[in-house]
Amino acid sequence: MSIQYPPYIWQNGEMKAWADGTTHVMAHALHYGSSVFEGIRAYATPDGPRILKLTEHLERLYVSARMYDMKIGYSMSELRNACFDLLEKNQLGSAYLRPIAFRGLGAFGLGADNPVEVAIGAWEWGPYLGAEAVKQGVSACVSSWRRLAPNTIPTLAKAGGNYLSSILISREARARGCAEGIGLGVDGNISEGAGENMFLIIGGKVITPPMTASILLGITRGMAIEMAREAGYEVLEQALPREALYIADEIFMTGTAAEVTPVVEVDGKAVGDGKPGPVTRAVQERFFGVLEGRLPDSKGWLESR
Ligand SMILES: Cc1ncc(COP(=O)(O)O)c(C=O)c1O
Repeated sequence: MSIQYPPYIWQNGEMKAWADGTTHVMAHALHYGSSVFEGIRAYATPDGPRILKLTEHLERLYVSARMYDMKIGYSMSELRNACFDLLEKNQLGSAYLRPIAFRGLGAFGLGADNPVEVAIGAWEWGPYLGAEAVKQGVSACVSSWRRLAPNTIPTLAKAGGNYLSSILISREARARGCAEGIGLGVDGNISEGAGENMFLIIGGKVITPPMTASILLGITRGMAIEMAREAGYEVLEQALPREALYIADEIFMTGTAAEVTPVVEVDGKAVGDGKPGPVTRAVQERFFGVLEGRLPDSKGWLESR
């Protein structure tokens, strides 16, 4: 699936032609995965594009960078403005934004303190798992690959190198005919999808793996917890064994790219009655209701400049 990239990209403080958004092939990040990044969505509204939870995403970018002693030489407000400038310059309404900070060219070696480059790209990108996925739900497979073990590579940092795990999980799932792969932690409990957090509904309770389950602490996950509570459901952050996937009444995944996507089949077994269930629908209605302007944005999720 090819993507139509827009004319401009922001790099190291400058707006440039997309084709000029380059770095050197000997950049540290290319060899060692030393990048930190964000995936953010902008939604078109009658008042112009609004960026979902931009502040939280940028805060997480700085937190990820801090984990690796990377100094981002731009302030929050500079990056924030760059995101809005980029949408304007490229005349984008709804878009996916990808800020990245990475160690560039300099010395060669693992501990090299190479200068940190920063770039932001933005382009139109529909639902990650396909247009029908959000409505009909997707199939998922439990991966044979475990997620990163605690105290190996920090999963709370959204770093480039972490995504080798996600790539293995995602490619294996697709090779087996599933839309997405689910990674278990080294303890065999559910961790997360290749690029999404997991929610299981069991006996009317909404359960999601905790921070200790080798997950990225998803921003959409936080919103889903709030939305499910507002819809009147009890939400628990607790360890879930693999087999919970086969007894759950409903499952959904959350992420900036995947938004809120029902999972209707796991490892060839139907989840519940094989259709998106009422809890999933209630969370989706709130989520898309705000983003599509049908419900008031009472919490200020959609940020302007
Ligand atoms: C591994 C992983 N887990 C979870 C998520 C969901 O995080 P968020 O809701 O902040 O996009 C993502 C997406 O960024 C991810 O890559």
